[in-house]
Amino acid sequence: MEQTFIMIKPDGVQRGLVGEIIGRFEKKGFYLKGLKFMTVDRAFAEKHYADLSAKPFFNGLVDYIVSGPVVVMIWEGKGVVSTGRKLIGATNPLESAPGTIRGDYTIDIGRNVIHGSDSVDSGQKEKDLWFPEGINWWRPSQHSWIY
Ligand code: TYD
Repeated sequence: MEQTFIMIKPDGVQRGLVGEIIGRFEKKGFYLKGLKFMTVDRAFAEKHYADLSAKPFFNGLVDYIVSGPVVVMIWEGKGVVSTGRKLIGATNPLESAPGTIRGDYTIDIGRNVIHGSDSVDSGQKEKDLWFPEGINWWRPSQHSWIY
């Protein structure tokens, strides 16, 4: 079953959006396989965003991610990578549709509340980086209305 890595960034945590964001993924029908609250250092944030290291906004992005605790999650379900990105909305919140998380809760690209993997492959890499200890194995098989 497909999985994606989702991070509620420091502004999302500080603004009290954790429950709202988790609720959106739950109500869509995805299920939570891993969940942690953590603060990372610069080296870790730089590794997560290594693909963007040449971008002019890279240092500011790293400053932002290390500025406070984040909530990191693994969500699982059919099409969760691309549909998770749809729930999140466009990178620039001014271009994110209303009804998406970024479209509803933020206006600043540098404070866009949430990260979601952009492919199944990067989801796997991000899961390995953020959850080296592994994740919960359980499956709510009794809930046949989910899958
Ligand atoms: P990116 O991976 O392109 O977007 P997304 O998070 O939607 O997958 O960029 C990572 C983060 O970098 C993005 O969420 C916000 C930040 N960023 C900027 O601060 N300025 C920018 O011009 C871009 C493109 C991204």
